[in-house]
Amino acid sequence: MLLKNLRDEITATLARDPAARSRLEVVLCYPGFHALLYYRMAHWLWERGWYLAGRFVSHVGRMLTGIEIHPAARIGQRLFIDHGMGVVIGETAEIGDDCTLYHGVTLGGTRPSREQGGQKRHPTIGNDVIVGSGAQVLGPIRVGDGARIGAAAVVVKEVPDGATMVGNPARQVGRRSQPGETPPVFEPYGITAEIPDPIARALHGLLDEVSTLRARVSEIDRAQEASPADDGAAATAEPARRSVARAQP
Ligand SMILES: CC(C)(COP(=O)(O)OP(=O)(O)OC[C@H]1O[C@@H](n2cnc3c(N)ncnc32)[C@H](O)[C@@H]1OP(=O)(O)O)[C@@H](O)C(=O)NCCC(=O)NCCS
Repeated sequence: MLLKNLRDEITATLARDPAARSRLEVVLCYPGFHALLYYRMAHWLWERGWYLAGRFVSHVGRMLTGIEIHPAARIGQRLFIDHGMGVVIGETAEIGDDCTLYHGVTLGGTRPSREQGGQKRHPTIGNDVIVGSGAQVLGPIRVGDGARIGAAAVVVKEVPDGATMVGNPARQVGRRSQPGETPPVFEPYGITAEIPDPIARALHGLLDEVSTLRARVSEIDRAQEASPADDGAAATAEPARRSVARAQP
C-alpha cells in the first residue's frame, strides 16, 4: 500500500510539473516528494501513539525540505507539493486526493492553538484543489472540490466547489467546474486552457476607444447646442468629430 502510494505520487509529480523529466529525477530532486515520505513515516508513528517520535521525524523532514507537515494532519492520495519551501500544513488540516500546493502555502489556524486545544483549527481541502504560491488558507473552513486558490490569496471563508479565489481577503473571480462536475484536466499553475486571442483583444480595445470618443463628441455637441455662440467648443468639437469618423469600423 505504502509503495503504491509512493508510485502514484511520483506519477502525479511527472504529470503535473512540466519541468519533471523522469521518475528518478522526481525521487532524487523533488522536496515535495521527500516531504511526503517523512510525513507518511511521522503519521504512522503518530497514529500508534508515538507522538514525540512522530514530531521528531516530521522535524527532520522540515529541516531537509523546508516543508512542515504536522504528523497528525490527514493527507489523501497523490498530493503534489511543487518547490515546497515554506509550506506549512497544520495539525488538524485535511487534504483530499489529487491536490497541488505551491511553495509558501499555509494551511493554518487563525487562533493560538491553546485557546482551541484539541479542536479543529485548520482547513479541510477537497479533491483536485490547486493552491497557488504564498496563499494562506486559515481557519477550520472547507475549500470545495476542484477549487483554485490564486497565488498570495488569503482565504478565511468557505470556498465553493470549483471556485477560483484571488486577493486578500479572497474573492471569487471564476468557476472552474460546477458542483459535482469533474474539473478539467490539471493545468500547471492553475491557469485556464483558453489563451486569449491577441487580435480579438486589440479589436475590443479599438471598439472601446470608438465608443469613448463617440460619448465625448456627444458631450461636446450638447455643450455647443447649449451655448451656440461659444466658438472655442466648436473648434474642439470639429477635430474630435473628424477622428471619430476616421475610427468608424
Ligand atoms: C488564480 C489563478 C488560478 C487564476 O487563473 P485564471 O483562471 O487563468 O484567471 P485569470 O488570469 O483570467 O484572472 C482572473 C482575474 O483574477 C485576477 N487574478 C488572477 N490571479 C490573481 C492573483 N493571484 N491575485 C490577484 N488577482 C489575480 C486577474 O487579474 C483577473 O482579474 P480581472 O478579471 O479584473 O482582469 C492564477 O492566476 C494563479 O494565481 N495561479 C497560481 C500560480 C502559481 O502559484 N504559480 C506558482 C508557480 S511556481
